[in-house]
Amino acid sequence: MGIRVAAAGDVHADASRRVDLQAAFTGLRGKADIVLLAGDLTTHGRPEEAQVLAEASQLAGLPVFSVLGNHDWHSDHAAEVSAVMQEAGVTVLDRSWATCDVDGTQVGIVGTKGFVGGFPGSHLPDFGEPLLRQVYAETGRDAAAIHEGLRATEDCDFRIVLLHYSPTLMTLQGERPEISVLLGSDRLAHPIADHVPDLVLHGHAHAGRFEGTIGTVPVFNVALPMKREFWVFDLSADRPRAPEYALVG
Ligand SMILES: [Fe+2]
Ligand SMILES: [Fe+2]
Repeated sequence: MGIRVAAAGDVHADASRRVDLQAAFTGLRGKADIVLLAGDLTTHGRPEEAQVLAEASQLAGLPVFSVLGNHDWHSDHAAEVSAVMQEAGVTVLDRSWATCDVDGTQVGIVGTKGFVGGFPGSHLPDFGEPLLRQVYAETGRDAAAIHEGLRATEDCDFRIVLLHYSPTLMTLQGERPEISVLLGSDRLAHPIADHVPDLVLHGHAHAGRFEGTIGTVPVFNVALPMKREFWVFDLSADRPRAPEYALVG
């Protein structure tokens, strides 16, 4: 029993990316079981940019799941971006979870954008101005959703957490330390450490490091530049083994 998970983050679709995206999704045929997109689907959050990705995503002929990223919110049309993706058959997760049957193997995907908040040495506090406390609370809602989703999917054969923001500083190595507060929050890691899913994927940190861990849970930053290929992770029932991965396209 095993599954192949194709993943990419930070696709930043727009008309100029159409040909590369069509090639990337077409190249997945027969090489993966599910596709996960870790947010920043679009360049500026415009529905017409999402349409480019939505159309390309159908070329893989596979179930596709995504979360939104900060870019997808930039034009204040996040709901339309989600709707365009959903109309093409993509399941857009937002503080929610879904399951997928892959030849009798149940896969649970727990997805949320996540948010800022920082890491030891750069934590935003739950203190002071209402706006700052709202930011803190927003990240708390994402952490709570990860907890709920992992609890709801605990009977699945495999569980994957899909985020845009990073839950660990490990995959932010290479980014400027001064901006780590804007790249994620270790509060997102708490439910992951508690529930021990099989795989965590995130994006957003374009200059970060690919591999990290939360306890024994493998974490991959799939924001590293994608052209015409996806990362494909082989998840095996032999849980102590870290997933094998390759670039496929
Ligand atoms: Fe991005
Ligand atoms: Fe981002």
